[in-house]
Amino acid sequence: MDAYPLPLARIGIIGGGQLGRMMVKAAKRLGCTCVVLDPTPSSPAGQVAGHQIVGNYHDPAKLRELAASCDITTFDIEDIDTETLIQLEHEGHRVRPSPRVLALVQDKLTQKQTLADAGIATAPFIPMPEPSPEAFAAFGYPLVQKARRGGYDGRGVSIMKTAADYRLRLPVPSLIERFVPAEKELAVLVARGLDGDCRCYPAVEMCFRPGANILEMLLAPAGIADDSAAAAVDLAVRTLEVLGGVGVFGVEMFLTRDGDLLVNEVAPRTHNSGHHTIEANVTDQFEQHLRAIVGLPLGSTAQLSPAAMINLLGAPGHRGRPVISGIAEALAIPGVCLHLYGKAATAPFRKMGHVTVLDTDIEAARHKAERVRGLLEISGENHP
Ligand SMILES: Nc1ncnc2c1ncn2[C@@H]1O[C@H](COP(=O)(O)OP(=O)(O)O)[C@@H](O)[C@H]1O
Ligand SMILES: [Mg+2]
Repeated sequence: MDAYPLPLARIGIIGGGQLGRMMVKAAKRLGCTCVVLDPTPSSPAGQVAGHQIVGNYHDPAKLRELAASCDITTFDIEDIDTETLIQLEHEGHRVRPSPRVLALVQDKLTQKQTLADAGIATAPFIPMPEPSPEAFAAFGYPLVQKARRGGYDGRGVSIMKTAADYRLRLPVPSLIERFVPAEKELAVLVARGLDGDCRCYPAVEMCFRPGANILEMLLAPAGIADDSAAAAVDLAVRTLEVLGGVGVFGVEMFLTRDGDLLVNEVAPRTHNSGHHTIEANVTDQFEQHLRAIVGLPLGSTAQLSPAAMINLLGAPGHRGRPVISGIAEALAIPGVCLHLYGKAATAPFRKMGHVTVLDTDIEAARHKAERVRGLLEISGENHP
C-alpha cells in the first residue's frame, strides 16, 4: 500500500493562461496545490490557484523563485528561458517535461530536424537563416515559411503560393517547407509517463478557417477511416519516443490526399485540441499531464461521447472588459459545456473561452457547435 501526505505535490506552473487554469482545476481535484508564474496579476490560472508569482517567463530570478516554492515545475507555454530551467534541473529541481525537450521543441528547426533524422515523416524542409527571393525560388513554391522561435497561433507562419507572395516573408531566422495540400489536419494527444509508458487520446480533426489560421471547430473523434486513426496514434507514439519527454504533448499532423500522415509540429504541453477531454473522456488531458509529471499511473484515455469544440474568440474591433451575449440561448441547448477563462480584457481574436458540445452523434454535435458559435459573442466595453 502506498501512502502520500496531502497535498500530493506542489505544482509550479510557468504561464497563467487558459491551459494553466484548467490544469490548476485538475490539480485541486487530484489533491495537489499550485503556484503560477505569469506577468499579468490575477492571470486566468493565478485566480484559481490562489497563489501567483507576478513575473516574466524569461526572468531567471522569478523562475528560480517558482521552482523553490514547489515540488515539480511544469509549463503551459513554450516561450520560456530554458537556460535557467536547465540550470535548475541540474541543481535537483524537478522540471517536467525536461527543459532539454522544451529547448529542442521550441525551435521549430531543431524540432523538425530531430524528427526527420529519426525517420518521422514531415514535409520536406530546409533551414532559412536569412530569407532571399533566390533561395525561396530555388526551393520552389508553394511553400510555407516558419519562424524558428516565438510563433504561436499562426503568428510565425507565412504561406506562399507563388513567387509573388515573397512579400509576405518573415524577416527572421526560419525554415521553409513544402506546402502540404492536406485532406485534413489531425492532432493526437499523447501522455508519456515517468516510466516511458505512452497513452494516446483518439485522433481529433482540426478544421481551420481557410487562410486565417483560426481553429474553427474541433471534432472528436476525427472523421477518418479506422486504419488512418490507428496510424495517427502510432505516429504520435513514435514521435514521443524520439522526443522522450514526460507529460502531455500535442502532435499535429496532416493527412494528405494520398492517405499519408506527416507530422506538422509538436506542442510540449497540453493542447487546444484536447479541451473536449474534460467532458468527453475518462481522464482529461490536464489530469493526465499531472499524473504523468507527479509519477502516478496514467489514466484511461477512452472517449465516452463524441464531441465538437469551438474556441470563443474576442470579436474584431472590441477591447476592454469583456461582455458576453447569447449565453442563455446557448446554454439552453442540451450538451453545451461552457468554459470562460476569466481574462480581464478582450482583444480581437483573443481566446476568451471555449465550448464543448457533447452528443451521441458527431454530426449533431457539430451542428449544435455551429449554432452556439452564431449565438455567443464576446464583445468589449471599449468599442469605438
Ligand atoms: N507545410 C504546410 N502545408 C500546408 N499548410 C501548413 C503547413 N505548415 C503549416 N500549415 C498551416 O498553418 C497552420 C499553422 O502552422 P503551425 O506550424 O502549426 O504553426 P503554429 O505554431 O502557429 O500552430 C497549420 O495548422 C496549417 O493549417
Ligand atoms: Mg500548430
